[in-house]
Amino acid sequence: MLMQIKINDLTFSYSSVPVLKNITFDLSGSKFVSIMGPNGVGKSTLIHCINKILTPTEGTVMLDDQNVTEISIKEMAKIVGYVPYSANDTFPLTVVDTVLMGRHPYSKWNTLDQDLDIVYDTLSRLGISHLAMRSFNELSAGQHQKVMLARGLVQEPKILLLDEPTSNLDVRHQLDVTKMLRALSREKDILVIMISHDINIAAKYSDEVIMMKGGTIYAVGTPKEVITENNLREVYGVESVVIEDMGMPHVILRDAVPMSEDDNVEEAKSTPQEESEVAAE
Ligand SMILES: Nc1ncnc2c1ncn2[C@@H]1O[C@H](COP(=O)(O)OP(=O)(O)O)[C@@H](O)[C@H]1O
Ligand SMILES: [Mg+2]
Repeated sequence: MLMQIKINDLTFSYSSVPVLKNITFDLSGSKFVSIMGPNGVGKSTLIHCINKILTPTEGTVMLDDQNVTEISIKEMAKIVGYVPYSANDTFPLTVVDTVLMGRHPYSKWNTLDQDLDIVYDTLSRLGISHLAMRSFNELSAGQHQKVMLARGLVQEPKILLLDEPTSNLDVRHQLDVTKMLRALSREKDILVIMISHDINIAAKYSDEVIMMKGGTIYAVGTPKEVITENNLREVYGVESVVIEDMGMPHVILRDAVPMSEDDNVEEAKSTPQEESEVAAE
């Protein structure tokens, strides 16, 4: 059964600082979707509104015509998998036990052989079987990221949300993981939604791209429709040349567009980047 997400006129504010404004879009089917946009634009916040970590200030998030506010936490965990932005999470556990936590929504009292099979299959799929008995805390950042990805996958969700899942991976593994995520969307009929900073990898593999600017959706469509020289200038402030490679857009960055005065004010502040972006909104 394919899942549908319907977001209707969603607005979200942290305290009284508005971050997301009037977001409306629908997604359904077994698709691989990328969310793009500059730092601080509200990508992670949007994902948190979908998986119920945050409650929208206004508007609704519907999963198959059910408002997420009416879905229990345990039920949510079976529907929506979430791979958080690679934080410095530590687990004093082996890799197997860390990944096994993803089976939590299904478990009763004890771990079943079936749960372990799913965990080992997933480790193998990600090429990290050899890390199974290692302690999570002694792995590299890239290995951490693959383990957290495995934890999201063993949840066997209908919708998988990933917050920059490849940010610590080298190019080869970025390609591998992104390709694997797209294949997964087909094989298991999952709606995979990934926040990505790598425009070219998103362009190469996505069925759809959601481009955000200033807390709103700037453009939604196929990579060809959304990843254009004009949109990249408007949204990221970069001059680029977009060529076609194997039928998909490929971006060659040329230069940063000189900043407007507003942007310069923001740049001049020495506050943490994300905070200064709230102030600029
Ligand atoms: N917990 C929080 N409290 C207050 N402001 C926040 C919090 N988390 C994020 N923000 C602000 O909300 C805006 C959007 O953040 P975020 O969704 O993390 O952006 P992105 O993921 O696109 O980089 C940023 O300006 C950020 O500073
Ligand atoms: Mg983010």
